[in-house]
Amino acid sequence: MLWKKPIIDFLYFLIKYINQLGETKPLEIKKGFSISYWVSTIFIYISIVLAFLFKFQHNFLSFIYVNIISIIILNFSLYFLKKYNPDILKHDGAMFLIFIMISTFLFLIVLFRKILNYNFLLIPIPICIMTLNIFLGALVSVIILFIMSFTLAIFYDYNFYILVLEFILGIYLIFLTQNVTTRKDITKIWLKIIIFNVLFILIANHLSIIDSSNIFHLLIASILNGIISVIITLGILPYAENISTIPTNIKLLEITNFSQPTLTKMLLEAPGTYNHSIVVANLAENAAREIGADSLIAKAGAYYHDIGKILKPIYFIENKPSFMFNKHDSLSPNMSALIIFSHIKDGIKIAKNIKLPKKIIDIIEEHHGTSILMYFYNKAIEMYGKENVDEKLYRYPYRKPQTRESVIVMIADSVEAIMHSETVFSYINFKNIVNKVIKTKLEDGQFEESNITLKDLKKIAENMIKTLSSIYHSRIKYPTAEKTQ
Ligand SMILES: [Fe+2]
Ligand SMILES: [Fe+2]
Repeated sequence: MLWKKPIIDFLYFLIKYINQLGETKPLEIKKGFSISYWVSTIFIYISIVLAFLFKFQHNFLSFIYVNIISIIILNFSLYFLKKYNPDILKHDGAMFLIFIMISTFLFLIVLFRKILNYNFLLIPIPICIMTLNIFLGALVSVIILFIMSFTLAIFYDYNFYILVLEFILGIYLIFLTQNVTTRKDITKIWLKIIIFNVLFILIANHLSIIDSSNIFHLLIASILNGIISVIITLGILPYAENISTIPTNIKLLEITNFSQPTLTKMLLEAPGTYNHSIVVANLAENAAREIGADSLIAKAGAYYHDIGKILKPIYFIENKPSFMFNKHDSLSPNMSALIIFSHIKDGIKIAKNIKLPKKIIDIIEEHHGTSILMYFYNKAIEMYGKENVDEKLYRYPYRKPQTRESVIVMIADSVEAIMHSETVFSYINFKNIVNKVIKTKLEDGQFEESNITLKDLKKIAENMIKTLSSIYHSRIKYPTAEKTQ
């Protein structure tokens, strides 16, 4: 079709340009078949058909017409998504969020146009566009924006100006919400929406596109729209976070702030764990960025991975003051292992209480996978003999890492734990430690449930060696410095 190519080229150019402005959130896709794509597509299709049925006459011909429009709209969007961001189609949370946003939009359009017969400027469409952009990035938002502007124009009697206005306003909103990091950033947007709408009304009035007797009502409508859209978007962000299981950058930056009460509590009650977590976060954040995983999730996950140790800090070596008697000396190795394992269960409980995002709770649960607690396993063998010790009792009874961020935190955690008792700070030593940790975990099958590749692991190793070199830079002894002392 002749008309299809220029539109596709234009959309592609826009998406590419907007995507360059901000980092698109990498989505972690579960392995295996996902039904979310089919279910969501069918629901979105049904919703579009139902919405159009409100607009058109109820006869057989318009029913066919409605179905054809819906198929064209869906095909168009799927073509772009499959080509430029196929991960979205396999992500249950993302597809569900798209479905909810499209349904909300269709509901609003039917309510405002067919039932209340209000002006389109009053429909708070910015809610859907801002929410989608904050969670799924510019690519999805531009595609959905196109569907919305197109449908809106059909509902308002094929008004071309509405299509253009909504599309430009949407693109403007995508720019505005591209790099929001605090809730305050969103509150600043309402004034910009109002200014944009008011300018449009004045220009449209000047060009005699709109009825000038109505201009006062239109101005009031656009002001209300700006305010309402921002308030509702702020209100629905936590719910959208729950539905999609995708934490926003806003939430992640909030929880990685050192003034967070739980992190302050960790500093006071488990200072060793606190320092350990900060180094793990440093290693994990850099490594995640290196392989294109979500660095903020890795960082937040590392801060909270051992949060469960707050409840029994003294049982963990990093928190035990040197003058203090080791509590494990009076316990059986099996009992000690149970206490160590409990930091996962306690961590999940604390994380749920303070409402951390699901991805962070998953990292807490998976950061040891099913690995073996070597120290107490060896102690048990020494005490009872190998044939009398059941290896299973010394393996963490939790889930293996499911995501790349979880794998990174697992590696960083083990590397930091070894570094803690290390006295030699040299590049070769860092390299040996990192490679040994990765090799051991890999051979133990800890990475097999995630989609990490050997290429990723190689990059992670190189990056962690680099980070260790910069963290311990001041402690590396140079031969020349030794000679001059
Ligand atoms: Fe741990
Ligand atoms: Fe740890």
